[in-house]
Amino acid sequence: MFLYQFTKFLGWTVVTGFAFGMCNWLFKFVHRRWVSKWSQARKPLADSYRNVMKMVVKFHRVTGLITASALLAHFILMFQQIGLSLSGLAAMSCLFAMVGLGIHGAKFAGNKKGKWLLGHRALGVILILAIGVHVLGQ
Ligand code: HEM
Ligand code: HEM
Repeated sequence: MFLYQFTKFLGWTVVTGFAFGMCNWLFKFVHRRWVSKWSQARKPLADSYRNVMKMVVKFHRVTGLITASALLAHFILMFQQIGLSLSGLAAMSCLFAMVGLGIHGAKFAGNKKGKWLLGHRALGVILILAIGVHVLGQ
C-alpha cells in the first residue's frame, strides 16, 4: 500500500516538474507582455520578478532531467503493480521526446532557437492534453 501511494506521489512529482518546465515559457511571456512595460516606479517589483525568472531558466535543464527520472520510476513501479496504461505510455513518449529535444538543443544544436525549439514547445502543448487525459481518466 505504501509503495502504491509512493508511486502515485511520483506521478504527481512528474506533473509538478512538468508545470515548472512550462514556467520557462510562462515567465518569459508575462515579462514580454507586461513586466517589461512597467514604469520606473515599479522597478523594484520588476527586478524581483526578473530574479525569479532567471532562477526558473537557470534550473530548467536540471529540473527537466529530475522530472524524467521520476517518470521512469513511476512507469516501472506502476507497471509492476498494475500493468500498462496506454494514456500513460502516450504521455511518457511525449515527455521523453521533449527531454531528448531539450538535451539536443542545449548541447548539440548550433542554433539555440532552431527547429528543435518549435518541437520542444509544441510537445508542451500536446503534453497538457496527454497528462490531463491520463490523470483525469484514471
Ligand atoms: C508524463 C507521464 C505521466 C504522468 C505525468 C503521470 C501521472 C500520474 C498521476 C499524477 C497519477 C495519480 C492519479 C491519482 O492520484 O489518482 C497516475 C496514476 C497512474 N499512472 Fe501515471 N503518469 C505518467 C505516465 C505513466 C505511465 C508511462 C504509466 C505506465 C505504466 C502510468 C501508469 C499509471 C497507472 C496505472 C496509474 C493509476 C493508479 C491508480 O489510480 O490505480 N503512468 N499517473
Ligand atoms: C519537463 C520537461 C520540460 C518541459 C516541460 C520544458 C518546457 C520548455 C518550454 C515550454 C520552453 C520554451 C521557452 C521559451 O519559449 O523560451 C523550453 C525551452 C528550452 N528548454 Fe525545455 N522543457 C523541459 C525539459 C528540458 C530539458 C531536460 C532540457 C535540457 C537538458 C531543456 C532545454 C531547454 C532549452 C535549452 C530551452 C531554450 C530556452 C532556454 O534556454 O531556456 N528543456 N522548455
